[in-house]
Amino acid sequence: MRKKLFIKTYGCQMNVYDSDRMAAMLARHGYQRVDSPEGADLVLLNTCHIREKAAEKVYSELGRLRRLREQRRREGGDMLLAVAGCVAQAEGEAMAERAPFVDIVVGPQAYHRLPELLARRGRGRSGIIDTSFPRESKFDELPREEGQSAVSAFLTVQEGCDKFCTFCVVPYTRGAEVSRPVADVLAEARDLVARGAREITLLGQNVNAYHGEGPQGREWGLGRLIRELAEIPGLLRIRYTTSYPSDMDAELIAAHGEVPQLMPFLHLPVQSGSDRVLRAMNRHHTADDYRRIVAALREARPDIALSSDFIVGFPGEREEDFAATLELVEEIGFAQAYSFKYSPRPGTPGAILPGQVRETVKAERLARLQELLDAQMRRFHAAQRGRELPVLFERPGRHPAQLLGRTPYMQSVHVEAPELRIGDLALVRITEAHAHSLAGTLVTRSM
Ligand code: SAH
Ligand code: F3S
Repeated sequence: MRKKLFIKTYGCQMNVYDSDRMAAMLARHGYQRVDSPEGADLVLLNTCHIREKAAEKVYSELGRLRRLREQRRREGGDMLLAVAGCVAQAEGEAMAERAPFVDIVVGPQAYHRLPELLARRGRGRSGIIDTSFPRESKFDELPREEGQSAVSAFLTVQEGCDKFCTFCVVPYTRGAEVSRPVADVLAEARDLVARGAREITLLGQNVNAYHGEGPQGREWGLGRLIRELAEIPGLLRIRYTTSYPSDMDAELIAAHGEVPQLMPFLHLPVQSGSDRVLRAMNRHHTADDYRRIVAALREARPDIALSSDFIVGFPGEREEDFAATLELVEEIGFAQAYSFKYSPRPGTPGAILPGQVRETVKAERLARLQELLDAQMRRFHAAQRGRELPVLFERPGRHPAQLLGRTPYMQSVHVEAPELRIGDLALVRITEAHAHSLAGTLVTRSM
């Protein structure tokens, strides 16, 4: 009898990638992935610690799962509970104390040890914690997925971060920056394409800091890696996320102008438009550095669409600092953005800085920023109306004969055309622009 595995994934795309790899590994140990915790033999929460209340959410989810398990036990069944991801890494022993009914707590660098941890649990050990950063890399140990790949697939090329922005937990939960060797990345990319991927998004907490070992022991940057990936026949689109402004080197910027498969959309978090705040955040760039990088990108690829992350209400942020953020946004013009109220994360330097900003002020600034960003996003979507754009179709839509795809600029597009297949790259005339998506009609199928 196959055992059933349910994974709930929180947070970033790297967690999505990790969850898929853990599922592939556990499949070899007899686990079949299912869509709900009811009836699962193993429930794995792959958690995120980036903003407030993340740990609280995990604990309340665990409370629910514990009751589900009690019910199953009354019915003669059982269920193992495991917590992975950044909350597991950050909480560690604390989780064993607060939620002693959790069977396994495993950090992001120790996933490949899950079968061993499960076996230990099977032998009767309880409260097993592994939040180590082992010498062997999980990438070498975790098996690849099998079967059909998604049309748009993720591939993690680097993990961890050495930047230590003063608000961020990532350097503590994911550890030091590590890049995978070029040969491993290329092999995984070829495998994904052979299994049906037409688009690959390269992932990393700080993906453009990539410096993997290439042929003859030489280090390759992300730009070089992307050029090599572009040689893979059948790989139509390449993206990467998330990037750090001062790691946008000349080679990577040039690739945006020269590699047609590299899509003209870039998520490049700036966080703030005030140099004073950027310094307090320990960002290694100024607002003008960001402007210069964007100008260079636009010179290389004039139609590049930009996305960003913003934090409002960082300790010490005054009204004039916030005004500088609005000014930067006005000037750059973003196609898309995420913005957050600063949330003090225990253990990070920002949490104990003087000048913590009141909640009401944060909320008010966030609302003003989001109003501006939303208007820019709507304008960007509206500007596509009447254009003919290549769309890669990834998913069925809500109605029959409707498919969902993306423009080069990451916008979702609905098209109704019975002759379209998932995986097609087709030319679409954009007819409607909504707040979060576009609609269009087919011009020509398969380009
Ligand atoms: N480069 C990383 C960034 C992770 S966090 C990655 O993509 O893996 C994503 C965004 O969350 C950050 O860019 C920042 O804008 C926001 N963020 C991180 N820590 C935060 C905090 N303590 N409070 C509010 N927002 C935060
Ligand atoms: Fe976090 Fe800053 Fe690194 S946001 S992931 S410490 S670049």
